[in-house]
Parts: sequence; structure tokens; C-alpha cells
Amino acid sequence: MNQHARSQAAPIPFIDVAAQRRRLGTRMDEAVARVLNHCQFILGPEVHAFERELAAFCGARHAISCASGTDALLLVLMAKGIGPGDAVFCPAFTFCATAEVVVLAGATPVFVDVDATTFNIDAASLERGIATAEQHGLKPKALIPVDLFGLPADYDAILPIARAHGLFVLDDAAQGFGGSYKGRKIGTFGDATATSFFPAKPLGCYGDGGAILTDDDQLVAVIKSLRVHGEGADKYDNVRIGMNGRLDTVQAAVLLEKLKIFPDEIEARGRAAKRYDSGLGNVAIAPRVPEGSISVWAQYTIRLEPGRRDTLAATLKAEGVPTAIYYAKPLNRQQAYKQYPVAAGGVPVSERLSDEVISLPMHAYLDEATQDRIIEAVRRAFN
Ligand SMILES: Cc1ncc(COP(=O)(O)O)c(C=O)c1O
Repeated sequence: MNQHARSQAAPIPFIDVAAQRRRLGTRMDEAVARVLNHCQFILGPEVHAFERELAAFCGARHAISCASGTDALLLVLMAKGIGPGDAVFCPAFTFCATAEVVVLAGATPVFVDVDATTFNIDAASLERGIATAEQHGLKPKALIPVDLFGLPADYDAILPIARAHGLFVLDDAAQGFGGSYKGRKIGTFGDATATSFFPAKPLGCYGDGGAILTDDDQLVAVIKSLRVHGEGADKYDNVRIGMNGRLDTVQAAVLLEKLKIFPDEIEARGRAAKRYDSGLGNVAIAPRVPEGSISVWAQYTIRLEPGRRDTLAATLKAEGVPTAIYYAKPLNRQQAYKQYPVAAGGVPVSERLSDEVISLPMHAYLDEATQDRIIEAVRRAFN
């Protein structure tokens, strides 16, 4: 194919939400129409049904839906009373919401480094971060591991450290819900797990949404109160400061339909990732999935030598292939977060990854012909 013919090819979507919408077809129309007919838009029957299905999907005792992944994280920190003087350990290489909620709760995020091959929290850096927090006069209180790009964090390495230091573990599974670690689905590793249903997420709705998963009955009661303005006996009885953090019924109806096809989509994402691995493994550093883990491939992220990424992105763009950079700056380098402590030894891996990573189109509806176009375009860019 010559350059001109290539540039004429149809642009490829980064995430093809429309392809999934076509598959869901009238089933989705009918699910939404049912809500429009019964008019219980707030905490209607679909919300409760979805919470039951979501908990069953991952094997957690409880699922509490809420308005976004950010609220899911914040509601848990609020419910645990985490606040001023408390240190909450977060990876430096993540989306800002992981640390944002810590600051919103009044506590201090302490940034720890990640592993270069999995992009997930590094256990040795976590140990150093705990010592750093103590040196700053902070009380180590909680850990927020992130299942970045869909890959579960290394729970066997980090949970013993968390237990030894009495840390509450809140898994940020906004990207990783649907993944598995050593035969168990994400949703039951932390004391609580938060996820996001932002439309681009592996399990996304048609707006904002999120959920908390936990086995802790007491935590459930407090979170349910917090998500309705700190209600007591009813919403006009206010027993604590809360928020308006509910998932709306239309989104729950959408999610009930999407959850039915989610297992099939997880497999399709896995197949697409394998095809990328074999097509690109010898031109870039492909993401590594450790033995025993199943990634849900929120992103397919390759690594290049620093300095090569911008040229690759520009070449691919000219051929209709979109790319994205998650994340161009680690959180400790962001203006809003640079005053917070960083684990002793710094976060050199997070800093290096920010210069090396680039993500390619990834979703469950990436057909082989389109994917081959992407793989060939990447390979050509390297020649
Ligand atoms: C790792 C991580 N945490 C939290 C969030 C926040 O989720 P939401 O956008 O639903 O608030 C996101 C969303 O992008 C995320 O990627």
C-alpha cells in the first residue's frame, strides 16, 4: 500500500463504544425504556439488581453502586474516617483520582514507585514509603494499590506489608475490574475495592458511574448512608456529612445488559492483546502479564526508548491510527501533587515510564483486519 492509499484509510477508533452498542441493539433500548416507563430514576429496582449481579460476578459479599469511580474511592476513605495526619500510599504512576480522593478526605498521599514490567506498585518502594511517612510525622493508615491498565497488582507481595503495618487496603480497580489474580477475580483482594463505569472503561456505562465491593457489613452501612447525604433513618435524618453519590437507574439498566456480555468481552480483549504481543514483541517492549494473572486490558501499552514516542504517535496519526499517553507525568511531578511526600529513593521507574509509554487502540471489537493495520503501521514506523 502506498503512503497516499494508507492516509485515505478510515480512521480507527481508540475505543469502539459504537461497535458494542450495535451488538447490544434492541436489548439495550428495551432496558432503558423499562426505566423510562417505571420512572424510578433514583435508586430504582435496576440499581439493586445490578448491585446483586456485580457482587456475584466477582464473588464479593456486597456491591454498592455510586456516581463515579472517584466517588467510590472517596466514599470508602470517608467511611473509614481517614483524614488529617493520615498517610495513604498511592503509586505515582496512575490517574490523578487515586491521590485526589486522599487529599479530598483531608489525608496525605505518599507516592510510591511501580514495577517497570507490570506498571503496578513496587513492594520494596511501599516499605520505604511507610518509613518516609513516619519520618514526616504521618500515621500510615491506608494503601491504594491500582490495577493499572487492567492488570491486577501483585497482591501476594503487597498485602503482607499492608497487614504488618495495619494498613486498610482500598483496591483502585477502575481499570482492572474483570481481571483475575491467582484464580480469584478482582473485587475481593482489598478490604474494599473501588471501580469506575466511565464509558471507556472495560465495563463502562453511558455516563458516569462507579461501585464499591466489600465483604465488610459495617462498611456497607456507612457507605450507603454517605452516598445519600449521610442519611440515618431516612434522607431527612442526617447523622453524618455525606454527599449525593448515587448511580442513577438508567445507568444501572445499561450496566445490567453490559455485564451479561462482559465475560465474552474480556476474552476478546485477551485475544487482541495476544495478537499485539506477537505482532509487536520484537519492535517494542510489550506489556508483561505475570503467571497467574488475567488482565482485562483497559489499555495495551508498549514501551519505547525515550524520544521515539512522539515520532511514532505522529506517524500513526497520519495513517489514521490513534494513540494515547497514559501517563505523561507521574503524580509527584504534577503541579497539584508535587508538595506531597515521595517514598525514600524517589520514584525513578514512574518517571522513566512517563517518558516511554504509549497506548494503542484496544477494545473487545478490534477485528483482526483493523488490528493488522495498526500492527503494520507500528512496524513500518520503526523501519
Ligand atoms: C486508576 C483510576 N482511578 C480512578 C478513576 C476515576 O474514575 P471516574 O472517572 O469514574 O471517576 C479512574 C478513571 O479514569 C482511573 O483510571
